[in-house]
Amino acid sequence: MKSTIAILTIALLFWQSSDVQSTEVSQCTDVSFPTTVEIEDCAEQPCILHINTTTSMTMKFKAPKNLEHIVPIAIAEVMGMEIQYPLDQDDACAGIVNTQCPLEEGEDVEYTFDMFISPIFPKINLTLEFSLLDEDQDDSAFECFKVDLQLE
Ligand SMILES: *[C@@H]1O[C@H](CO)[C@@H](O)[C@H](O)[C@H]1NC(C)=O
Ligand SMILES: *[C@@H]1O[C@H](CO)[C@@H](O)[C@H](O)[C@H]1NC(C)=O
Repeated sequence: MKSTIAILTIALLFWQSSDVQSTEVSQCTDVSFPTTVEIEDCAEQPCILHINTTTSMTMKFKAPKNLEHIVPIAIAEVMGMEIQYPLDQDDACAGIVNTQCPLEEGEDVEYTFDMFISPIFPKINLTLEFSLLDEDQDDSAFECFKVDLQLE
């Protein structure tokens, strides 16, 4: 029993000191902003994403209301145009790692998704607006952030 506690303590210390840092991202207009956003290997904007690789993004938020069916959407703003960015996930519940849908109002939620930068992309700079939508309420966004990306 004692050794189990010792191992747990060590594991916890390791976990706390591991290099997961949050990324400074921007708010969207009129939509609630996640508590933290973590983009792999990126502390501040612009985040450099490598073409033909996958970057994981995690966001933590408090569910603003009860939610059952949620979908992710990513809009890329490139040279004044807005293009929906294809995500490999159409059910955001599949990206929730600490709990399960349906979500209860006030629940702490950790959500993650992987973003693959297809080799068809050129080396450009873009702004990505990422939102989670409530499918049961006209696809209204309830969580959103924006981040400048530099594709390399
Ligand atoms: C993308 O990565 C895969 C596997 O890592 C590699 O086989 C492929 O050649 C790469 N494609 C391009 C266009 O770089
Ligand atoms: C993207 O932005 C960086 C600076 O943030 C700049 O150095 C680079 O030239 C830009 N790339 C393109 C393709 O505009």
